[in-house]
Amino acid sequence: MTTSPAAAPAARDLFEPARLGPLDLPNRLVMAPMTRNRAAADGTPPPIMAEYYAQRAGAGLIIAEATTPNRVGATYPNIPAIHRDAHVEGWRAVTDTVRAAGGRMFLQLQHGGRIGHPETSGLHPVAPSPVPFPGPVHTPSGPRPAVVPREMTAEDIRATVEDFANAARNAVAAGFAGVEVHAANGYLLHQFLGQDTNRRTDAYGGPVAHRIRFTVEVVRAVADAIGPERVGVRIAPGVTANAMAEGDTEAIYPELVAALAGIGPAYLHVVFADPGQALFRELRAAWPGTLIANPVLGWGGPLPEDGGRAAAERLLAAGADLIALGRPFLANPDLVHRLRTGAPVNQVRDRGLMYTGGAEGYTDYPALHTPATAPRPAPAPAGG
Ligand SMILES: Cc1cc2nc3c(=O)[nH]c(=O)nc-3n(C[C@H](O)[C@H](O)[C@H](O)COP(=O)(O)O)c2cc1C
Repeated sequence: MTTSPAAAPAARDLFEPARLGPLDLPNRLVMAPMTRNRAAADGTPPPIMAEYYAQRAGAGLIIAEATTPNRVGATYPNIPAIHRDAHVEGWRAVTDTVRAAGGRMFLQLQHGGRIGHPETSGLHPVAPSPVPFPGPVHTPSGPRPAVVPREMTAEDIRATVEDFANAARNAVAAGFAGVEVHAANGYLLHQFLGQDTNRRTDAYGGPVAHRIRFTVEVVRAVADAIGPERVGVRIAPGVTANAMAEGDTEAIYPELVAALAGIGPAYLHVVFADPGQALFRELRAAWPGTLIANPVLGWGGPLPEDGGRAAAERLLAAGADLIALGRPFLANPDLVHRLRTGAPVNQVRDRGLMYTGGAEGYTDYPALHTPATAPRPAPAPAGG
């Protein structure tokens, strides 16, 4: 059988504009959310975060790092929050600076669940079930053994859903175009999805229809609060980060995605998307809206020499609409320009600097037009 060339869908181009909810994106490259622990201890973003994100405003869309919707959800020290006025003010300075630099932002909302610690949040962590994280967690005084989380009551669940909706309203007030609900990577929503972390016997545990309920309720409440066109959802099918053991991955995600599609969010964002994987292809076919795919670039080693362009193009060819890249954007403020021109990419300098405070390894990655060793002007003579 032969196919007529006219029947072939037009190949998508990474560097062409795209529409996303209320936004016109100048290209199909998305900066993936990345926790960088540069916020103040109370979760307020300081000016250096505005500088960091504005440097990366060439992304089609920036999804700002995991941000806490309530006190108990604070996962790690110095991650940003969005449940107090000071948080909104701090974030507004970030979104204003990014907008002035020509960029657009969504904010990722993350509740850590069992990954939290009393030393970090001042509160005992909560989770679907009292199943502790099997390892140390980060606290302000260094790694500490995880505590056994308190099982969430029906009232905790209702209040947490409302906290996500309020956080989304705050995010819009702070100038974000929308929010991404974090249902990936082993945090609270993912803990509800997986069998090992969710041992409940009520309407939120047991069969898949029950385990997806909390995530669906959060997404619906957030969509009701700010409009579904301003909401994205991040999922990580089969990903074992943070000791996740879903058990029945192949059953969870088709049912979750069908339920989310009924709410009509702006996008679904798949972590470690693999175009060769049957589940990825199934989810792409089932999802009627925009699909953002975050390719597998290899975790421990260096970034690919092409900055991830070939992996991104494979996913576009497999039906993804937008491509999210993490570490390539972390190390390359002008990543879109480098990928478009084939210029070499900066490697991540020191993994230790990913999560530490300050400008080093944060705002000091050079763009091509600002050499790292630019000569300094001579100081003017004193008293002259
Ligand atoms: C420093 C760092 C922080 C991260 N923080 C988050 C986060 O806050 N939320 C999230 O969903 N994923 C987070 N991730 C995962 C990235 O969004 C992305 O999925 C991962 O880095 C793989 O993409 P890459 O190979 O392009 O880096 C983080 C990754 C890194 C390297």
